[in-house]
Amino acid sequence: MTNKPVGSNNQMESDVYYPSPEVVAAAHVKEYETLYKRSLEDPEGFWGERAEELEWFQKWDKVLDDSDAPFFKWFVGGKTNIVHNAIDRHLKTYRKNKLALIWAGEPGDVRTFSYFALNRNVSKFANVLKSMGVKKGDIVTIYLPRLPEQVIAMLACAKIGAAHSVVYGGFSVEALAERIEDAQSRVLITADGGWLRGKIVHLKDIADEAMARQPTVETCIVVRRTGQEIYMEAGRDYWYDDLMSLPIASPICETEPMDAEDMLFILYTSGTTGRPKGVVHTHGGYMVYTYTTLKYVFDIKDEDRWWCAADPGWITGHSYIVYSPLINGATSFMYEGAPTHPYPNRWWQMIEKYGITILYTAPTAIRGLMRFGDAWPNRHNLGSLRLLGTVGEPINPEAWKWYHTVIGKERCPIMDTWWQTETGGFMITPLPITPLKPGSATRPFFGIDVDVVNDDGQPVPPGEEGYLVVKTPWPGMLRTIYKDPDRYREQYWSKFGTMYQTGDSARKDEDGYVWVIGRMDDVIKVSGYRLGTAEVESALVSHPDVSEAAAIGLPHELKGNAIHAYVILRAGVEGSEKLAETLRQHVAHEMGPIAKPETITFVDGLPKTRSGKIMRRLLKARALGLPEGDTSTLEQ
Ligand code: WT7
Repeated sequence: MTNKPVGSNNQMESDVYYPSPEVVAAAHVKEYETLYKRSLEDPEGFWGERAEELEWFQKWDKVLDDSDAPFFKWFVGGKTNIVHNAIDRHLKTYRKNKLALIWAGEPGDVRTFSYFALNRNVSKFANVLKSMGVKKGDIVTIYLPRLPEQVIAMLACAKIGAAHSVVYGGFSVEALAERIEDAQSRVLITADGGWLRGKIVHLKDIADEAMARQPTVETCIVVRRTGQEIYMEAGRDYWYDDLMSLPIASPICETEPMDAEDMLFILYTSGTTGRPKGVVHTHGGYMVYTYTTLKYVFDIKDEDRWWCAADPGWITGHSYIVYSPLINGATSFMYEGAPTHPYPNRWWQMIEKYGITILYTAPTAIRGLMRFGDAWPNRHNLGSLRLLGTVGEPINPEAWKWYHTVIGKERCPIMDTWWQTETGGFMITPLPITPLKPGSATRPFFGIDVDVVNDDGQPVPPGEEGYLVVKTPWPGMLRTIYKDPDRYREQYWSKFGTMYQTGDSARKDEDGYVWVIGRMDDVIKVSGYRLGTAEVESALVSHPDVSEAAAIGLPHELKGNAIHAYVILRAGVEGSEKLAETLRQHVAHEMGPIAKPETITFVDGLPKTRSGKIMRRLLKARALGLPEGDTSTLEQ
């Protein structure tokens, strides 16, 4: 193991942390190299064996069909349903009475669901959906706060073969409306509101406005959470509770047998240009992939209490709050509110109270909690923790070390997992047995062949920056962009042909450890959330005073990156601080508070190429006082 930092990337730290003998002794996988090699030499054998650990209504004929690349198919001819493996199969075992879900509300309320109870709720709601005319192949949009009903609704859709499109509860009117429109959803599931930092987020108001813009929704089911008075439209809006108490909500519902390649869900994510893309995942491959990754990486055991502190509205929550923990028969913990409410010890208090054994969160959350000092976590017994995890953006070594020392008491290895909405599950990640280097996601998972290449697709030498690519298909990969196969090809397979382009840049060091640097495109990671400059810009331009806008991401101590916008106003409109604030609020109203620009600068012009494209790279260089680089295409 080399000890010298590679290249000029200041994230490439020299420290190496070795796992303790106790951690190694407990791990599911005790050796990486041989199994990794085998998984690449015989991917069909490796994934076929993993799939055999789960139940299928009908076994597959072929593990991988690559005849129509890049439209890969997995477990072709197999029939299953992810809900059969996430719930039904456990009901035949002692797990029936085990807790599947523990949910804590921000005001202090708690709800728990055994696998038996989860099944009852999912089955009842599945029957409600059926009675609303939801059929196999339909797409139901779910716009909820972090509530058990969010999990129940997702599973209920999957159980009857409908696909879900979950829209993060922090998104707002236009973001919701365009997702409803793209999916052509006839059914929307929302709530009267949700609790965040002691305040109510008025989801139904946002949903009403979105439905007014997109009249495809015929039925809106409303979960009662906060209890305040809201508008209910007769014949369209129904209370969840009311429906669940009707005879139609029978607790008996057959799980629909699905083809392995049938769509499980769409999840919209930001791309480089234009509208968000509907990333499509399937029942078979996604199920096998999420199951295997969580089992090996976080070493999930029956006695674990797993806390993935993400939102089910993002892929992290889909894969690792909902599906994979349940497929693994674990207990998944979920918390509604903010980590700092009412005090910055909220998370640590819950780890102690619920005996959480594994915590999986994002660097931005760690940094946010770290700034309150060690006294808050030190007031609590965090001795139940055995593993920690992080995801969403590169973790800075200071945050890594704080997490490792103050939270993990130097006992708990940190699994820094690199992956994407598109990949379905962890791609580059340590195992509990992996020697760790803070800031590196370490080595590829089994069956994952990653590389760092130059513009011609040739591997670059260790220490050099290049494009991060994946050279062979894997079961959890996205299958397409919903209704837009051309965009799928263009976005992921156009640059390097047979290699999947991730959009990230990275370096590999001499030990083969991958150091992800960040996005190479116009995607900005704000507090780990993925946003496109295009979406922020179109929200700005939708304001009557704005003629043109450009958004860029600049480094931010807590958020990783923050959005800064440059705005050209319409003729006759004067820029002012008040107008800047109005525009920030406008973006929050259209897109959601996370998209709100940090600053808005009024400008008379924007640097553009001769073909009219905004040169965001140049805006960024100027804002950071860096050299402007190649400006030969700049329109003078
Ligand atoms: C992008 C994908 C899938 C989980 C949540 C984000 C960045 C993700 C890491 C990590 C460095 C990371 C990449 C990637 N990213 N995890 N461990 N180290 N960067 O999913 O919203 O689809 O974003 O997040 O830039 O491309 P996503």
